[in-house]
Amino acid sequence: MAALIDSSIFKKYESEARGYCRRFNPIFSSSSGSIMNGNDSRKYIDFLAACGALNYGHNDPDMSSALLKHISNNGISAGLDLFSVPKADFLNSFHRLILKPRGLDYRVQFTGPTGTNAVEAAMKLARKVTGRTNIIAFTNGFHGVSLGALAATGNKYNRMGACFSGVSRAPYEHYMGTDFDTAEYLDKLLSDPSGGIEAPAAILLETVQGEGGLNTASAEWLKRIAMLAKRHGALLIVDDIQAGCGRTGTFFSFEKMGFEPDLITLSKSISGYGLPMALVLIKPEYDIWEPAEHNGTFRGNTHAFVTAKVALEKFWSDDNFSNEITFKAALITERLALIKKLIPGSHIKGRGMMQGISVGCGELADKICRLIFKKGLIIETSGPYDEVIKILAPLTTPVNLLEQGLDTIQEAVVEVMNKSLVADVDQLQQKAKFSKSVAANLPFVQIASMSKTHEKNCDYDLLNH
Ligand SMILES: Cc1ncc(COP(=O)(O)O)c(C=O)c1O
Repeated sequence: MAALIDSSIFKKYESEARGYCRRFNPIFSSSSGSIMNGNDSRKYIDFLAACGALNYGHNDPDMSSALLKHISNNGISAGLDLFSVPKADFLNSFHRLILKPRGLDYRVQFTGPTGTNAVEAAMKLARKVTGRTNIIAFTNGFHGVSLGALAATGNKYNRMGACFSGVSRAPYEHYMGTDFDTAEYLDKLLSDPSGGIEAPAAILLETVQGEGGLNTASAEWLKRIAMLAKRHGALLIVDDIQAGCGRTGTFFSFEKMGFEPDLITLSKSISGYGLPMALVLIKPEYDIWEPAEHNGTFRGNTHAFVTAKVALEKFWSDDNFSNEITFKAALITERLALIKKLIPGSHIKGRGMMQGISVGCGELADKICRLIFKKGLIIETSGPYDEVIKILAPLTTPVNLLEQGLDTIQEAVVEVMNKSLVADVDQLQQKAKFSKSVAANLPFVQIASMSKTHEKNCDYDLLNH
């Protein structure tokens, strides 16, 4: 067994900027598939997947062996943008398995290694193509924390302390409720010479807002935004950093929706192995970069190319993986529908294997997620108030493990709701042993009475969200 490490080392030497480790505080020593092992010998089911960077799970054996082979053969390791065998192999597989079968024609630009680098490059290129500076970004959008991408990010907490320019905010679909047409509103603002918005270089959006609370845009709305971008002379950038690489069921999140973005950003799971890698897909007519105009030391992670190629060959050579995701997504929806009944005013959000449940307030979501973690499942929240319990399991999670994780969420919800109204629950517990199956079938009225206390504690109104 590995020697136990004292976690005080991190508190002593690591910056206060550290984040995820504050909630998930074991010291992890190894991982495989959808399981992470703590240094204390505890096993955790992972429903976070390195924030969407491990769609194919931890340490896929085929990717591991390809990488080990590459390293033991003294394969190139540096990330300068020289020609290399792994880069050629990746480009070949990406073109053959992803772009060509979908009838898509894009050039691939390798940017700095994280998602925010790809977003910066896409924004800069759109500005160069159009000769304009303004970028339209949406409420609850998250695009990274480097200055340009952060200007497009909505979250107040992330934006604190920085100074921005060059981005105008527009309401995402349904931000103002279901009766308000936000595409029409944006069109009107851009068409009106007194609308007060500079002509945009680009409209930048996520089709499912991962960090913003799993808000989904409909194909109809997205198509209209694509059309209005064209009409107003702006490029459409789809940020598929979190929703891409199969997360919604298809490789790209906008497939079969009837429009093609001008630029697409990909990162997170593109390497397949959790290695940093990011790229921008550029319609050939917009690939007007001058040589080395947007250069840097790391312009393609060579080790990531090795694993990315294996990921594409292994998972995207046919439709099987996509069908498997669709099946698991339906299972998640089905189980969330049961959980939803336990929390009045809650609703299911997201699509594909990027779904969750908005419980109405951050405090309640936090309580539930802490208990879930105690029970051995790693899961995060998202949304402006961290009110959405977000399932981001590796897409390869076996069905039995997925069900085990969903059971854990349900158990935790039952327990937290139970404790929220001790008096009511005491009564209930005496009447019926408050087992998982009983709880799942509780009539709405009983549950509704249980909810009063937690609603009071919420920092905003469940129904008005
Ligand atoms: C949609 C989207 N864009 C961009 C980013 C930024 O990526 P990174 O954190 O790798 O810089 C993220 C990260 O969560 C994201 O979800």
